[in-house]
Amino acid sequence: MQSEMRVLGIETSCDETGIAIFDASLGLLAHVLYSQVKIHAEYGGVVPELASRDHIAKILPLIQTVLTKANLQAKDISGVAYTGGPGLLGALLVGACVGRALAYSLNVPAIPINHLEGHILAPMLEESKPCFPFLTLLVSGGHTQIIKVIKAGHYEILGETLDDAVGEAFDKTAKLLGLGYPGGARLEALAKKGNPLRFNFPRPMLDKKSLDMSFSGLKTHVAQVINQVSLQDEQMRADIACAFQEAVIATLTIKSQRAIEKTGYKALVVAGGVAANYALRLSLQQMMEQRGGTVYFPRQEFCTDNGAMIAYVGCQRLLRTKMQAFDMHIYPRWSLSDLPPF
Ligand code: KG4
Ligand code: ZN
Repeated sequence: MQSEMRVLGIETSCDETGIAIFDASLGLLAHVLYSQVKIHAEYGGVVPELASRDHIAKILPLIQTVLTKANLQAKDISGVAYTGGPGLLGALLVGACVGRALAYSLNVPAIPINHLEGHILAPMLEESKPCFPFLTLLVSGGHTQIIKVIKAGHYEILGETLDDAVGEAFDKTAKLLGLGYPGGARLEALAKKGNPLRFNFPRPMLDKKSLDMSFSGLKTHVAQVINQVSLQDEQMRADIACAFQEAVIATLTIKSQRAIEKTGYKALVVAGGVAANYALRLSLQQMMEQRGGTVYFPRQEFCTDNGAMIAYVGCQRLLRTKMQAFDMHIYPRWSLSDLPPF
C-alpha cells in the first residue's frame, strides 16, 4: 500500500462544480465550489445541457484556484478522483474527461467515484466522525435513501423513495406556493410562521413495515388543498408549508427510527441538501438521544454536492488500488451495492 497520496477530486454530477485536494497524511488541503443554481432557477429545475456547458467553462479555472489555495502545482498531485455517477450523463462526462486527461498528462492514476459513496463518507472529513458501522439518511434533491454502512465500501440500502426525492418534494411544493426554485430553504422559513394545528397532511407509507418512502402523494395532496383555498392569504401559505414540512419530517424520523431499531446501530449520519433543514435536524437529534445514540451532520458545505467528499473517497480507494489502466468510466446509474469494499 502506497503511503503518500495527494488526490485531486472533481465533482460534476449535477449543477455544482466542486474541486478539492485531499492528502492522505495532512487531510483536506483546499476545496472550491461553484454553484450553477442561478442559471437553472429561471427554468424551475436543472437543464442538463446548460449544466454540462457551464461545467466546461468553470472546471479548469477552479482546478487552478484550488491548486493555488493549497500552494501546490499540478505535478504535486499523485492521483485524480472524478465522480463517475450516478448523475447527468453530459455533466459527468465533463469531469471524467478532464480528470482522466489530467491524470494521463501527470502520469498518475485516475479513479471514478460513486457520488453516493461520497455523501456517505463526507462525515469522515470532520473532526468528530462516526465509527463503523452506522446508518446514513441521505436526503437531497436527487436521492432519498436509508443506507446501512457496514464498513467503508460495504453498503446496504434499507429503504428509499419509490418516487420523488425529498428535496424534489420540497422544491415542487415550494413552487406551488410561489416560492421559486430551489425552494426548500424558503419553504422552511415560511413554515416557521405556520400554525401546525391547522392542517394534518398524510404521512405516506407509515403503515407499511418496509423502510421505503413515497413523497409524490403528499405533493399532490398539497396541490389539492391549494385548489380549495386562497394563496393571497400569507398565513394560509405558511400553514400549508408548515403542515407539509411536518409530514415530511415525521416520515423521515419514523423511518430512520425503525432502521435504527432494526440494525441496533448507535450512530446516524444525515447528509444531502435537505440536512440543512433545522426542524429535521432537531427531530432526528431528539429521536437518537432518546435511544442513547448520536447523530452526525457533515458541515453544511459538505452536506450538499462538493469536491472534498470525492477527493476523500478517491484517496482512500487509490491507496488500496493497484490498477493503472487508462480507461475512463461513467455510470449515469450506479448502485451502491455494486461497489467493491475497501
Ligand atoms: O444535495 P443538494 O445540494 O443537491 C442535490 O440534490 O444533489 O440538495 C438540494 C436540495 C434541494 O431540493 C433544496 O431545496 C433542498 O436540498 N434544501 C432544503 C433546505 N435547503 C436545501 N430542503 C429543506 N429545507 C432546507 N432548509
Ligand atoms: Zn449529491
